[in-house]
Amino acid sequence: MPHRDLHLDFNEAFAPQQSNGITEAELEAATPNFIQVHRALKAMHEVGQVQFLNLPFLEDVLESISSRAQDLRSSFDTMVVLGIGGSGLGAKAIEEAIFGPLSLSSTPLPTKRIFVLDTLDPDYLAGFFRDIDLERTVFNVVSKSGNTVETMAQFMYLYELLREKLGPERFRRHLIMTTDPQKGVLRQIAKQEGLESFDILPGVGGRFSVLSPVGLLPAAFLGISIHEMAEGAARLIKRCKGEDLWSNPAGMLAMVTYLLSQNHGRGQLVLFNYSERLNRTAEWFRQLWAESLGKKLDLEGKEVRAGITPIQASGPRDQHSQMQLYVEGPPDKMVMLWSQEKFEHDLKIPKLYPEIESLSYLGGKTFSEILYAEMIATEQALKESGVPNFKLQLYGADAYTLGQLFYLFEIATVYVGGLLGVNPYDQPGVELGKKYIYGKLGRQGSEEFGATLARKLKDKRYVV
Ligand code: PA5
Repeated sequence: MPHRDLHLDFNEAFAPQQSNGITEAELEAATPNFIQVHRALKAMHEVGQVQFLNLPFLEDVLESISSRAQDLRSSFDTMVVLGIGGSGLGAKAIEEAIFGPLSLSSTPLPTKRIFVLDTLDPDYLAGFFRDIDLERTVFNVVSKSGNTVETMAQFMYLYELLREKLGPERFRRHLIMTTDPQKGVLRQIAKQEGLESFDILPGVGGRFSVLSPVGLLPAAFLGISIHEMAEGAARLIKRCKGEDLWSNPAGMLAMVTYLLSQNHGRGQLVLFNYSERLNRTAEWFRQLWAESLGKKLDLEGKEVRAGITPIQASGPRDQHSQMQLYVEGPPDKMVMLWSQEKFEHDLKIPKLYPEIESLSYLGGKTFSEILYAEMIATEQALKESGVPNFKLQLYGADAYTLGQLFYLFEIATVYVGGLLGVNPYDQPGVELGKKYIYGKLGRQGSEEFGATLARKLKDKRYVV
């Protein structure tokens, strides 16, 4: 597939064509804020921060991942990632974009498979560990902190299982750790046990780590060109170098979503995705956007309760499920339509029933044609109801495009964080939840949280 740039079409986000859209004057008035945020990002990068921007250029890392993945491919059929959130969603997104949803795909199945175990459901896990062929599987434990309950619980279960089934020495060949190069218990275990490991650079946070070994090792194991993905990301970074908004796609995406949410009451962003291959990428984006921007405090510690709620929808399925709400419900939404220009395959509808008018118009049309017509129709229905929307146009769902997509969203997220005045790299709300998990499970030092929970659980006043 040739390498093509992605495009954003904001026509339906601007007035006067969009009745509730942004005006050019409004954009102009906010542009100095964007320039400030853009310069701040640049300055931070120059002093060695925002390291995710360096990932696509780390040639030696790309090389070593590719070559190690090649060896793993000769020994194993399956890679199982034990990782959650930013440590799991990227690998899932890449796999599904390149190979298609396995149950539906008309693409030949990949010779290698990956699974991401981001669950604690015992029925799921019991079935999984019962059915997986341990001899042909390598397990990749991915955790930046090495502290994540879900991942570590799975790791401990698996460690015992592997040791028991494969023997006290051989089991180590089936375990890889992807974690911080120095810190955390996973690094300590890797050293202690002599396990193979990959580094997540200290300055790269979970949800910005897809182009580190976190996403790249599983991708390379699947035989995907990680160099092409990195090239796509590098291309997007290049397109976002300047402060002229109309030549900076992530800048425009950030400004449009920021202005629509702050000035037009559009606090919810619907990703209406018209490519089955990109549903997991939408899930990855949902986490990036939600965890980075949903913040109680701004950088000065003032309570702001910032955030734009991402909502995932897929077309045409959700035209028959959610669209009624988006078109006629509360005027609090903006919609980003994702379309894929080129599909790997297409299907033509036979010219049956020429005498039945309500069917004959479909004869001779292709499915991609109908899908596109449906997206344009959705766009028009949104327009007529005054719902601001814009289109993200992708050439295909190939590695190069994915690299662009990941970086479009990562950079836009950081810009929106800057515009909202919040820190996009932390997640104090998640940390709060973790303290109570530790409390409930009896981790040392978390007794106070455990006691609060115990009191809460005794309160049955409003239970039916
Ligand atoms: O984006 C993030 O920082 C989080 O979603 C983390 O990736 C997630 O909580 C998993 O953390 P860890 O990699 O430390 O296990």
